This record gives sequence, C-alpha cells and structure tokens, in this order.
Amino acid sequence: MLNKILCYSYGWMNFHHKLHIPKTYLQWCSKQSKASWWHSYAIKYRPWRLHVCIPCSWIAQAVPHSAHIFEIGCGSGANLLWLHQKGFYNLEGSDIETSAVDMCHLLNSYYKANINAFIDDALHPRQLPQNIDALLSVNWLYHIPGASLENVFNTYRDSLKPNGYIVFDCISSRYNAMSNNQYHTSDTRLPVADRRPSEYTFRMSMQEVENSAAKHGFSIVRKKELRTWTTRNGYMAQHLQ
Ligand SMILES: C[S@@+](CC[C@H](N)C(=O)[O-])C[C@H]1O[C@@H](n2cnc3c(N)ncnc32)[C@H](O)[C@@H]1O
Repeated sequence: MLNKILCYSYGWMNFHHKLHIPKTYLQWCSKQSKASWWHSYAIKYRPWRLHVCIPCSWIAQAVPHSAHIFEIGCGSGANLLWLHQKGFYNLEGSDIETSAVDMCHLLNSYYKANINAFIDDALHPRQLPQNIDALLSVNWLYHIPGASLENVFNTYRDSLKPNGYIVFDCISSRYNAMSNNQYHTSDTRLPVADRRPSEYTFRMSMQEVENSAAKHGFSIVRKKELRTWTTRNGYMAQHLQ
C-alpha cells in the first residue's frame, strides 16, 4: 500500500516526465497503427511509471545531448520521445511488434524527432547497433519466458562505446515474498485453478544483478529501489574498459 501511495504522489510531483502530445493525435496514431491500447496508456500515464522515468532521467544526467541512445523493446517510443523533448537527437530503438513500431513512426513525425525505430527481436537481433553511449532496456525483458539479464549484457556489450551504459529495470526478488506473486496480477480474483502464471518471469536481488553485471565486465554505478506497484529496482551499469 505504501508503494502505491508513493508511486501516485511521485507522478503528480514529476510532471516533467510527461509527454506533450495532443490527446486526439495520440488516439489517431493508436487507431492508425492498430497498436495495443497499452501504448497510449503508457504515454498518458508516463509520470506514474517510475520504472521508465527514473532510468531515463539517469541517462539524461549522464551523457551529453549528442549521445547515441538505443532502446530495446522500445514499443511506441515513449521513452525516446521524452529524451527528444530533453534535447537528445541521436535516438534509435527496436521492437518485435510491427504495430508498435508503426505507432512510433507516426509519433516521431509529429515531433520531428528523427528517431530511427525498426522491427527486430532484441533477444536475437538481426541488426546489432554500433557505438552506443547508452542502451535502455525497461519494462519488457522480465515478461519474456526464457529471457535473462545475462543475455542482454552478452548481446549488447560490444555495441557500446568504451565506458558506455546499459540502463534497465528488474523485478526485485522481494516480490517473491508478496502474496499471489506466482499468479498473473490480473487473475488474483479468479479461483486458483483458473489463474495464469505470473507475467514476471524472473526476479533478482540487487546482489544478483551486481554479480551478473560484474561477470560481463560491467559495474553498477547507480541503483534504486523503485516504489512501483510491483517491487522493481532500477540500475545503471557501466561497461568498464
Ligand atoms: C510493456 S512494453 C514496454 C515498451 C517500452 N519499453 C516502455 O517502457 O514504454 C513491452 C514491449 O516489448 C516488446 N517486446 C517483447 N518481446 C520483444 C523482443 N523479443 N524483442 C523486442 N521487443 C520485444 C513488445 O512488443 C512491447 O512493445
């Protein structure tokens, strides 16, 4: 309950995380691209989504506006558009869903943000980005059965510039102690037999994340317990070279 109150207040106090898009244009983009309703929701309620806002603000503080920033699992590009609003202009992203990338292209043309968004499987990329200053990976990896943080460190390490960053969020192992954590959050009112497994396929303690980062030559330079409805942590890992 405390997390819910803190998360709610954070959103109201941090309106600088908001995306400035007219409601009617957002509705038009959503309809035109046939992207899931979730993408419009994520744009409208961005200030309350601490697990994306805080990692993005870390990037904005750590690298210059000219930095090359790449987001994997970028969806409709909400985080890239926010970085554009903050003055960044070398922005790229990939997503596996055609409709999400189409919505990103429509929003991009409204903003004239020059974001290069394309379709790719970020776990097995056909097109590996090069010379990245910061790779952003939020709110997708822990929903994919079989995916792991190790996989991301391994796949993208060589895409980074020396001392580049991977900035991400992860479900905390503290979530394992919460009631019904093994079930899908939308199903908790259903009889046990009818519930789906949790949408959070892996959870990690801060120590486990630090160990995994170290194994791949990264050091965790920022970390934070995020007061989101599901207990998450945010991290900024730097590839030391
Ligand atoms: C919950 S949305 C988050 C979007 C964005 N990161 C954000 O925080 O606003 C998850 C996104 O991950 C994408 N996704 C899922 N599996 C993927 C994969 N293997 N490669 C790339 N994107 C993937 C989905 O298509 C979806 O757009």
